[in-house]
Amino acid sequence: MNGAERSQSATPILVVDGIELRFGGIRALDGVNLEVGRGSITALIGPNGAGKTTLFGVIAGFLRPSRGRVVLGGEDVTGLAPPRLFARGLMRTFQIPAVYERMTVLDNLLMVPGPQAGENLLTAVFASRAVNREEKAFRERAERVIAFLDLAPVRDNYAGQLSGGQKKLLELGRVMMTDSKVVLLDEPGAGVNPTLMKKLTDSIRRLNAEWGYTFLIIEHDMDLVAALCDPVIVMAEGKVLAQGPMASVRANDAVREAYLGSRSVAERVVAGP
Ligand SMILES: Nc1ncnc2c1ncn2[C@@H]1O[C@H](COP(=O)(O)OP(=O)(O)O)[C@@H](O)[C@H]1O
Ligand SMILES: [Mg+2]
Repeated sequence: MNGAERSQSATPILVVDGIELRFGGIRALDGVNLEVGRGSITALIGPNGAGKTTLFGVIAGFLRPSRGRVVLGGEDVTGLAPPRLFARGLMRTFQIPAVYERMTVLDNLLMVPGPQAGENLLTAVFASRAVNREEKAFRERAERVIAFLDLAPVRDNYAGQLSGGQKKLLELGRVMMTDSKVVLLDEPGAGVNPTLMKKLTDSIRRLNAEWGYTFLIIEHDMDLVAALCDPVIVMAEGKVLAQGPMASVRANDAVREAYLGSRSVAERVVAGP
């Protein structure tokens, strides 16, 4: 893929450049190049083991690549720790929702570090009046988030009592407590029932259009991807295989082969030799 083919996003908010990472003998990431356009809802798809979650780990600072760069908003952020990346506007959710089970829904939202946290913590300590004002605004924001996500009926329930889908919504709620610019979602649709699924996709769409978040989303549900995401980036075996609108990616021979390869393996496993 050359620069012209990627020109759709003139000033990408996120650039992944030649990222390599090994786990022992496995080349989990084998020179990944991709760009995420500012204001886009970009999908990251690919067969199991393609390296998608590992790439999220690298982008969000949880894993250190052996080669390559991650550039966020024009700044090289490779190797920065997650809190530093968070302070620069990058937020990540997990394949398995990371909520505090023994805290209420409201408290889960209030636990999220505010926009001023991290680098300006000291300033905040010396400006307690301003802090009080900010705390009030933060609480009001939490209430708005709860209303937005239809979580009012479970506002004071422990997060551990929520359904899988409600936990996914709560995770999205934690994103909404931040002024993040780029949000990485790892399989937001997994284990979510159809009703909540609609709420989830509507919320992502509105957060993109109205709140200005850029999304990079790993997802296996191709209907969800087709309905929500453009462009779609396809990974296989630690590399980017194709990129473009869903229709063109679906028609791509290399992509079909990558998915077919894994399906034929699955069929052999099910059917026997
Ligand atoms: N912590 C780890 N230790 C060793 N190997 C891992 C680890 N995490 C992922 N892998 C391997 O790296 C490759 C990519 O995995 P992953 O990023 O989870 O793929 P995907 O999310 O696309 O399914 C796979 O071969 C997987 O087995
Ligand atoms: Mg994964």
